[in-house]
Amino acid sequence: MKIDGVPSRTIWLQPDGWSVGILDQTALPHVVKRLTLKTVEDAAHAIKAMQVRGAPLIGVTAAYGVALAMRADPSDTALDGALVFLAEQRPTAVNLRWALNDLRERLAPLASKERAAAAYARAAEIAEDDIETCRRIGVNGLRLIEEIAKNKRGEPLNILTHCNAGWLACVDWGTATSPIYHAHDAGIPVHVWVDETRPRGQGAALTAFELLHHGVPHTLIADNAGGHLMQKGDVDLVIVGTDRVTACGDVANKIGTYLKALAAHDNRVPFYVALPYSTIDWNVEQGADIPIEERSADEVLRVAGRLSDGAIATVAISAEGTPARNPAFDVTPARLVTGLITERGLCTASREGLLSLYPERKSVAA
Ligand code: MRU
Repeated sequence: MKIDGVPSRTIWLQPDGWSVGILDQTALPHVVKRLTLKTVEDAAHAIKAMQVRGAPLIGVTAAYGVALAMRADPSDTALDGALVFLAEQRPTAVNLRWALNDLRERLAPLASKERAAAAYARAAEIAEDDIETCRRIGVNGLRLIEEIAKNKRGEPLNILTHCNAGWLACVDWGTATSPIYHAHDAGIPVHVWVDETRPRGQGAALTAFELLHHGVPHTLIADNAGGHLMQKGDVDLVIVGTDRVTACGDVANKIGTYLKALAAHDNRVPFYVALPYSTIDWNVEQGADIPIEERSADEVLRVAGRLSDGAIATVAISAEGTPARNPAFDVTPARLVTGLITERGLCTASREGLLSLYPERKSVAA
């Protein structure tokens, strides 16, 4: 996708052939800042500090983190250490573990001198695969949007999304936003309600930024506004991303997603979740077993933004000494999910639905 008309990605190999470029998402939307990762510690920090975030992008960054570690020291000890170190940076998005397990399986059997090249090659492959996977999610989601748009008789289709499951959360295209970009590019009039997504504001800072730069009509709303808009008939469809889908179709995503699913259910608004295969955790059955990241209370107690003089500042929003809690994700039970949009097509949020798209998992699931 583009920033100021320039095709951009969230992560790339630098021209030196070994260091890794990222867009610093903590600086967006006010400053477009690029950073270079040179060590596994840099990659881990980028994940932890959310300079990169979003389930698929965390996975790609971790893969490059292993490559950086192997460049410095390709021993068994260094490989094991890098895999454990990167895995502990964020707990909820399964893509992180998916990428690290993939790297472990490929690198462990190799002679140590072959590991760095193999890790870089695989990290690049995972990044390219993510782009194509997200593109296909978009094509499949476009069919759904086309169907629902038929009832709108040329009026814009109003889609609500939460957090940022856009190209900034992936390498390109995004998951929840890919169908929206495909529909917009196909000439279907769409309008997006962008949940601001407190406490970190990924909707306000990132999704609105993306949509603005791609020219997709959108309106930023306070998180609490979604239910009201649904009651008024102003939301035709909800599409969100996810950090982990269980084998039974329960969906972990950014805190607040569950409330939107409840409101959508009560108002008969279709609620879809877009995801790549790497977000399905076939080893976990129930959403209650998904580890939920608890982040610093400071994120709830303060907000950051740009002052009128252009300076970026962080300000307190409650009395000094106010206790706060910050669970970063919640779980939407499968029964509240109308359907899943994947690179292989659409299915119900259920074991049967998932196995209909991924039949190769049947023997594992049996
Ligand atoms: O805490 P974040 O910003 O990493 O959370 C991101 C989300 O919750 C996204 O919706 C999810 O990772 C899907 S990204 C395609």
